Amino acid sequence: MGGLSKKGWQIKQISSDAGQPRLTLDAGNLLFKHAAITPNLEAQEKLTAEAIVAAYNLIGYQAVCVGGKDLIAGIPYLQRINKNSKFPWLSANLVKQPSRKPIFKASTIIKVGALKAGVIGLTGPAMLQAEDAALILPWEEVLPTLIAKVAKKSDLVILLSNLPAADNQRIAQEYGDIHLIIQSGANANTLSPEPVNNTLLVSTGPQGKQLGIMTIHWQRSKRWGDTRAETLRKKSEAMASMRWQLSKYQQDQDPETALRNQPDQLQAYHLLKAREQAMQNEIDRLSQELGQNPPAQGTPSSFANRFMAMEIGLPDQKEVVRITDQLAAAIVKQGQQQAKSNTSTAISPYLGSNQCGACHAAQLASWQQTKHASAYTTLVNGQKQFNQNCLPCHVTGVTLAQGQEALSLPAERRGVGCETCHGPGREHSKSPKAFVLTRIPGPAVCQSCHSAPHDEAFDYQVKIKQVGH
Ligand code: HEC
Ligand code: HEC
Ligand code: HEC
Ligand code: HEC
Repeated sequence: MGGLSKKGWQIKQISSDAGQPRLTLDAGNLLFKHAAITPNLEAQEKLTAEAIVAAYNLIGYQAVCVGGKDLIAGIPYLQRINKNSKFPWLSANLVKQPSRKPIFKASTIIKVGALKAGVIGLTGPAMLQAEDAALILPWEEVLPTLIAKVAKKSDLVILLSNLPAADNQRIAQEYGDIHLIIQSGANANTLSPEPVNNTLLVSTGPQGKQLGIMTIHWQRSKRWGDTRAETLRKKSEAMASMRWQLSKYQQDQDPETALRNQPDQLQAYHLLKAREQAMQNEIDRLSQELGQNPPAQGTPSSFANRFMAMEIGLPDQKEVVRITDQLAAAIVKQGQQQAKSNTSTAISPYLGSNQCGACHAAQLASWQQTKHASAYTTLVNGQKQFNQNCLPCHVTGVTLAQGQEALSLPAERRGVGCETCHGPGREHSKSPKAFVLTRIPGPAVCQSCHSAPHDEAFDYQVKIKQVGH
């Protein structure tokens, strides 16, 4: 239900079967989007993190896993966030040093209609600070006893896992008592439920751009449906059809002799025979496996799932929009203060676009007509000109780490200027022949900004023709 639209953070309202008992969970890595929190970003990122929690409270999240990235502002900060969260933050393996006691709740039991769902959290790799006095234990140390405990008290066991995908696969293979693993680890992307043993593995993409909705009919068998028998039936049908086609070839005499002078037909016959053999092997393998490991007794449980992209066109949830509006205003205020406090007097190698015009008037005139020239105005129109996450791609010559500088740029460096493509030009302007700039920027230059998620469909060969002068 969280959603980050293409150009900003928004929460979309999703109606789902009203009245049906439901469980709203997040597997972690929701507060911060960068791998580290640099001093210039700290204030802004914390404002954002707090707004996310306020929105999750409103949406009614019931449990959230502590992701490695949720820890980058330190454990004391997350503990403060935890106090303001109406849902528990879960982690069974993030423990205090030296007591090795969990810092957050390891698990929780949530009633969903008549059903009791046990929810466990596991934190993935994280960069802990010495002052955190904490440790992330390997899951092998904590999970076996915890599963036994949680499984006893619940009908359905869900693991919110921030671990790498390979570990989740191993957990699914080794512990039949976990029925669903929701993943948020590195590179977690939208993944339709993948059955492994009696566990379904799912994940949705990062930054709330996708919402995963699963409808589960959980049965006493505590097992997902076994699809092997159905697969076997379908394969046998396909096999029967192949046999029938082969029988046509074999009607009168041996096809090897009959088709001697028709190489194409003979080849088609050989191919069909090979496919029949492969299918037979597959059927033998499946039958044997079913014989050794028959389907479990009882009515199998079932599920249906869909992913929803948080499209801009979806209606916004009004109360949450209020939170995002307040956040935007707070970031503007914070950014203005930070811009004022920038006392750096270092001379930048970037000069700004206007001064290039002294010698390249025609290029300046043509550039002024482009969207690059008005890229900063675009941010101003959305009141995002103090958002440090936006600035690096909408101004000239700053990186994310130079947030402070980005906030207080002179007017001529606002917008995607000449030097974005041709390189810093202060020296060139003084002695053009001694300091030659790049004439045609390569694809990497463009892609530093024109890449997913801001411009998925960028085609260098096409677009480079539109930016020359
Ligand atoms: C004082 C005049 C002057 C200023 C100011 C100036 N240039 Fe130039 N620029 C030139 C001259 C002269 C050349 C041609 C150099 C040559 O032929 O070797 C040139 C060449 C170029 C080229 C072409 C390089 C090539 O390999 O063909 C680019 C691109 C360029 N300038 C960009 C800029 C940018 C961007 C700025 C502003 C940061 C700028 N120039 C400021 C005088 C200037
Ligand atoms: C990594 C680079 C990058 C960052 C960071 C970035 N943008 Fe952009 N932005 C782009 C590019 C590239 C385009 C042009 C995309 C296109 O033409 O499809 C663009 C276009 C836009 C547009 C106008 C086009 C449209 O689709 O409406 C808006 C508005 C915008 N960005 C706002 C933002 C805001 C707000 C932020 C910060 C939350 C942001 N951008 C951060 C690269 C970036
Ligand atoms: C988005 C990238 C981009 C921006 C921004 C940009 N240029 Fe260019 N520029 C190009 C490309 C591409 C060419 C090569 C055009 C060609 O020859 O096909 C070029 C060529 C040039 C040349 C060489 C002469 C020519 O016309 O081919 C000069 C000089 C130049 N640009 C100056 C500028 C100045 C001055 C600005 C800012 C006012 C600017 N450019 C902004 C991409 C850019
Ligand atoms: C520093 C970031 C940055 C770089 C580098 C950059 N762009 Fe852009 N570009 C933007 C932004 C931001 C916009 C949208 C501005 C707006 O609408 O306000 C944009 C818009 C455009 C547009 C107009 C919209 C569209 O998609 O048709 C074209 C074309 C374009 N860029 C091509 C290029 C090419 C080609 C390069 C490389 C030579 C390049 N850009 C390099 C940030 C960048």
